[in-house]
Amino acid sequence: MLRLKGKSAIVTGAGRGIGKAIAQKFLQEGARLLICDIVPDMIVVAAEELSQWGEVYRMTGDVSERAFCEALVKQAAEYFGEIDVLVNNAGIVAIEPFLEHSESAWDRVMAVNLKGTFLLGQQVARVLVAQGKGGAIINMGSTNGHVAERESAAYNASKAEVVLLTKTMAAELAPYNIRVNCVSPGFIITDLTKNQVLAILLCGNIPIRSHSVVLEILRRWRICLLFSPLMRHHLSSVSQSLLMGVNYLGRLTNGLV
Ligand SMILES: NC(=O)c1ccc[n+]([C@@H]2O[C@H](COP(=O)([O-])OP(=O)(O)OC[C@H]3O[C@@H](n4cnc5c(N)ncnc54)[C@H](O)[C@@H]3O)[C@@H](O)[C@H]2O)c1
Repeated sequence: MLRLKGKSAIVTGAGRGIGKAIAQKFLQEGARLLICDIVPDMIVVAAEELSQWGEVYRMTGDVSERAFCEALVKQAAEYFGEIDVLVNNAGIVAIEPFLEHSESAWDRVMAVNLKGTFLLGQQVARVLVAQGKGGAIINMGSTNGHVAERESAAYNASKAEVVLLTKTMAAELAPYNIRVNCVSPGFIITDLTKNQVLAILLCGNIPIRSHSVVLEILRRWRICLLFSPLMRHHLSSVSQSLLMGVNYLGRLTNGLV
């Protein structure tokens, strides 16, 4: 059964990494997609590659800019008529020791990870409310939003805020049958993290000294269930951590927490 057949979705930061993998899974589950990324070449190549699995459109822009978020939502409505799902995936890191953490890096990380999630989430939520048939918004958190990682002050803070923003959105949008959830993956090797591999594995934050590769997220972490109609009675906000031995209770686990 195609769990997203007939649904239309926006996935941000889908030029590579986790966003692209989510886009692939959505298409394979029957959704129609509008994907975006800030890097023009990457989104062109990604859309071309993803089109083998279904109907996919692309836009280039910065999710931290209101005008782009408005344009993206308008475009989705034009392509699909209606919007069902938003995945706020785009995100960046800044690896800087706290004592030297620059204000510019702090501002940029907050702008993309937190403000971008707010801006696009608000735009899409307004459309979902106007459509009157509910919908789903997934925000990308991180275990860094629950457990501090060294030299990542802005990133950690931004992801912790995404968790609380998600809970607030979920509480306010529940009366409209709009589910808002946050997923908090542990360490996954992508372009974002490839330079941190050794440091992270050695620093002790991951008790089992292991990591995920991006497609594992689709197998272990049943992301599609978060927007599937099967989950329509689950209105509350959850932040699920994909395990690599890290969760905020510090337990070693082998499944969803
Ligand atoms: N890789 C991990 O270990 C890990 C763990 C937890 C959470 N995450 C989160 O998952 C998300 C994706 O991470 P990833 O590892 O795939 O990273 P990635 O760098 O491989 O992919 C992120 C994509 O977002 C795009 N992007 C960046 N800024 C943007 C902006 N302002 N507007 C639009 N697009 C923008 C990038 O160009 C890139 O294509 C991020 O939110 C990240 O914080 C990643």
